[in-house]
Amino acid sequence: METNQRPYHLVVFGASGFTGQFVAEEVAREQVASGHSSSLPWAVAGRSREKLQRVLERAALKLGRPTLSSEVGIIICDVTNPASLDEMAKQAAIVLNCVGPYFYGEPVVKACVENGTSCIDICGEPQFLELMYWKYHEKAAEKGAYIIGSSGFDSIPADLGVIYTKNKMNGMLTAVESFLTIHSGPEGLCIHDGTWKSAVYGFGDQSNLKKLRNEANLKPVPIIGPKLKRRWPLSYCRELSSYSVPFLGADVSVVRRTQRYLHENLEQSPVQYAAYINMGGITSVIKLMFVGLFFLFFVRFGIGRQLLIKFPWLFSFGYFSKQGPTQKQMDGSSFTLRFFGQGYSQGFDPEKGKPNTRICTQVKGPEPGYVATPIAMVQAAMTLLNDASDLPSMGGVFTPGAAFFRTKLIDRLNQRGIEFSVISSSEV
Ligand SMILES: NC(=O)c1ccc[n+]([C@@H]2O[C@H](COP(=O)([O-])OP(=O)(O)OC[C@H]3O[C@@H](n4cnc5c(N)ncnc54)[C@H](OP(=O)(O)O)[C@@H]3O)[C@@H](O)[C@H]2O)c1
Repeated sequence: METNQRPYHLVVFGASGFTGQFVAEEVAREQVASGHSSSLPWAVAGRSREKLQRVLERAALKLGRPTLSSEVGIIICDVTNPASLDEMAKQAAIVLNCVGPYFYGEPVVKACVENGTSCIDICGEPQFLELMYWKYHEKAAEKGAYIIGSSGFDSIPADLGVIYTKNKMNGMLTAVESFLTIHSGPEGLCIHDGTWKSAVYGFGDQSNLKKLRNEANLKPVPIIGPKLKRRWPLSYCRELSSYSVPFLGADVSVVRRTQRYLHENLEQSPVQYAAYINMGGITSVIKLMFVGLFFLFFVRFGIGRQLLIKFPWLFSFGYFSKQGPTQKQMDGSSFTLRFFGQGYSQGFDPEKGKPNTRICTQVKGPEPGYVATPIAMVQAAMTLLNDASDLPSMGGVFTPGAAFFRTKLIDRLNQRGIEFSVISSSEV
């Protein structure tokens, strides 16, 4: 990627946010880990200089880099001020956009595309991600900008996990189910309410997503082998001895878009995909079912959405808070994402029989929201900077899988503690 003309290779926009502060910290860590301290000029951006300075001071203290605050640029930029967005975009090779909920996101994408700047976000809202594709893909290609959405825990592990599973299968992978398990330590789990707000607006906007998909009227992607059956809303996963429910994040939308891209542009056989989250024992199932029912009821009405946003702690039974998780909670948490794939061995015709090959893989990593997400986002940016010849030849709006399937992103993630591995593989 061409970086010579721009003062900063990376600009972390929204660095004053709960997630943004950890993304900024991760860029500072990456500079040291990759020996790029002087060759990776970067800046933080946001609407409050004081907050941005405090973020840099905290990172300097935490990482033992006293000169950090003076080495990193500060850009004042507000989503509601297009000129400030243009100014930020002109100074960066890549903007790491941490400003959410992402209904704030379109002006950032627009400014980046118009200025030929690449942009990576950690959005988990399918309507934003899909809308950006329809509105900006062609213009981004023309300008040579790579706009890559959902590059956090939502949805790099799932999207790259399916690609990894496909690459490790001895034959043709046709369907995958994934099961997410979140492990917590003695202090329990907590998520910052920025994600809660995004979920409230995202679910409140489902009708626009439906409308967008109807208007797009895409040709269905072919189904190879038997159609992947949907599990019941509550099912028992024998392999993991746990109850599971469908995972309602962006993973399914993202993985399907990647599979469509790989099929339509590279004639690869598409993989069917479904995502579930493990709930553990029956007590957690009951608690989470209440959270889910309250949420799905209240999110349908304007006043319900206001209540959900005002009282995240109450309506989420303590899972989301305005303070976010403590350091101890983050240190004690981790995730495992298991993939169960099926397909056909080399030379076996899917038209002539049932799948005869199975594979189980996994992606394992640290606390998802504020440790794994910054790692995934920053490694996506490093891949964009360093693996240019393995990216799609023109810019555009891409899922992580579509942008990075040929690159070394999985190796980079493995080195940073988000580990991809094969658990088993067999013919049946
Ligand atoms: N993909 C994943 O797995 C993943 C993981 C974690 C988070 N996320 C997503 O990341 C997003 C942020 O979450 P969070 O918890 O960090 O939220 P947050 O703490 O509320 O941060 C929001 C950030 O946006 C900035 N902002 C708001 N309005 C702005 C404006 N008009 N102009 C410029 N900046 C503005 C805020 O700046 P001020 O400080 O000035 O208010 C703050 O820096 C959410 O959409 C969340 O879903 C995704």
